[in-house]
Amino acid sequence: MVPVHWTCSMCTFSNHESMVYCEMCGVFRENFVKSAKDGSVKDAVSTVSNEPRVSASPKIDSSKTPMKTRVVASDGDSARKHASTFISTANSTHVPSAGSSLGAEKKNKTHVLSEEIPVERTALLVPGHFQRKTDKSGGPSSSSQNDYVAQKLSSDISQLNLDKNNANITKPCLPEEYKPEKWMLADQESGVLSQLNLAIVGHVDSGKSTLSGRLLHLLGRISRKDMHKNEKESKEKGKGSFAFAWAMDESSEERERGVTMTVGVAYLETKEYRVVLLDSPGHKDFVPNMISGATQADAAILVVDASNGSFEAGMDGEGGKSVGQTKEHAQLIRSFGVEQLVVAVNKMDAVAYSKERFEFIKLQLGSFLRSCNFKDSAITWIPLSAVENQTLIKPPSDAHLTCWYQGPCLLDAIDSLQLPSRDVTKPLILPICDVIKSQSTGQLAAFGKLETGAIQNGSKVLVLPCGLEATVKTIERDTISCSIARAGDNVAVNLQGIDGNQLIPGGVLCHPGFPVAVANHLELKILVLDITIPILIGSQVEFHIHHVKEAARITKIIALLDKTGKPSKSAPRFLKSKQNAVVQVSLDGAVCVQEFSKSRALGRAYLRSSGRTIAVGVVNRVIGQDEN
Ligand code: GTP
Ligand code: MG
Repeated sequence: MVPVHWTCSMCTFSNHESMVYCEMCGVFRENFVKSAKDGSVKDAVSTVSNEPRVSASPKIDSSKTPMKTRVVASDGDSARKHASTFISTANSTHVPSAGSSLGAEKKNKTHVLSEEIPVERTALLVPGHFQRKTDKSGGPSSSSQNDYVAQKLSSDISQLNLDKNNANITKPCLPEEYKPEKWMLADQESGVLSQLNLAIVGHVDSGKSTLSGRLLHLLGRISRKDMHKNEKESKEKGKGSFAFAWAMDESSEERERGVTMTVGVAYLETKEYRVVLLDSPGHKDFVPNMISGATQADAAILVVDASNGSFEAGMDGEGGKSVGQTKEHAQLIRSFGVEQLVVAVNKMDAVAYSKERFEFIKLQLGSFLRSCNFKDSAITWIPLSAVENQTLIKPPSDAHLTCWYQGPCLLDAIDSLQLPSRDVTKPLILPICDVIKSQSTGQLAAFGKLETGAIQNGSKVLVLPCGLEATVKTIERDTISCSIARAGDNVAVNLQGIDGNQLIPGGVLCHPGFPVAVANHLELKILVLDITIPILIGSQVEFHIHHVKEAARITKIIALLDKTGKPSKSAPRFLKSKQNAVVQVSLDGAVCVQEFSKSRALGRAYLRSSGRTIAVGVVNRVIGQDEN
């Protein structure tokens, strides 16, 4: 049966027929509102919550927040190095960094990681991070280092800006002219499991990395030797409880602080899937990194700390006065388009596996998740303990839990997740999450998830924003070479015919005939979240889209939108909480972008300010690029 869909008049999201409001932006379906006015569905309307999608955590200056994911090799090859990129929050432009500095750091790190676990991380490093690393190795002083970095950034920027004379972008074709080739549409390669990108999200310290590390260990992805080493070293540092988390938190800073700062990427196999685990940082300072990593998710595990007071902090912040990251992450991943959720109610050992506590959490969080438009039927609730290994890969053994819980274990819940549909019939779009050093060729490779289309060895791709064409030389999936990658796959792509330095996180590989836009003037449809300071014309914001953030300014407030998506006749002077509006933004630097109607991955945007997500939205129109 072909599912029936309706298109949202505000954000053009394609919703299932059964939805009365848009899953993306919350706007009511037009004919539903009409019948609601007639009184026929009044009750249903009043039950739909107006809860904001994302609230903010206070006191954070996000302009100082690193936006970071990183790729780490843990396959025992110490020569494997990864390039990295600075996201300069000062001048808000993205440029490649000296990959060698990170490479040196990775070399030092390989001793802590297993020869067998392929754990990867992707990194967008801020100057501060770079500085700390070079300081350690006796590099220049911080101020001279900063000067050097600033100079390098501006020279790199001018090199990387789309050079209209050099760029070999041919005249773009119309989308309807695209015809996928036969090999692109072929069935899944036989014997190869489908790839499921699974984000692990939740409030700080809820146990995300411990859970991820424990799963890897139970599934044999961490050798006994390496586990022993992690246990010994973490104990010596007085951090014995972090032994499993160290499989994911492998930088010395993360280990010292006991806090994940970047998204850790690890691979495991279940009966049904090759799972790419994206272990997000939970600390509110690192929400931008969480956005960059979890935006690739097909489904998510929301980890909740069941201990008394901790669950409450995840909901309402420390002291109950703000919004915790259990709520913020849940809202964000829903706005990324994630529909399926496993709620891992962790640390049940700390509450004596109490059924009452579990039911209380389910009730409180459940009603919040409903208000974020998660369907009850798409949520699986599991009481577990990562530390005591309860309900992870088999049914629990603790009598306090077995006496009331007979549901699935985490591994079974992962296997029951459904793969979202993959769009292989559209032209290639691969947003570059990171630039890493390829294991097979030793050259820089673009790492990221194919959002649409497919590539194989020999395919021609257009690299943006530099605008140069290149040929796919090799493709690696979880460090193993493969000949074809299709929409949904997370891969490293080695390219021929281009200098690796032209690849930058936040860039995009696309079909040469169907380039995506590179622009810094955009029209957005936004939903304003819970804000205390109104959004005005001229307001400075941080603009987040796929793997990039840019400083931006609101240049116009065009109209307010009512529940049906109808624009107001006159433009308001400012925007406040829960309003839908059309605005124009001007970014300091151009980003790779598409209208949401053409590409969901390149058309979802987030506005943040002072450490808070203040609006979620979609790109309505690409206005263009400044002529310099
Ligand atoms: P961030 O990434 O910084 O947000 O933290 P996290 O969610 O990854 O938490 P992490 O895995 O680093 O664990 C934080 C602390 O919780 C560590 O001391 C863990 O040992 C502890 N912890 C994790 N799981 C459990 C559990 O099941 N029971 C108990 N009692 N403690 C746990
Ligand atoms: Mg962690």
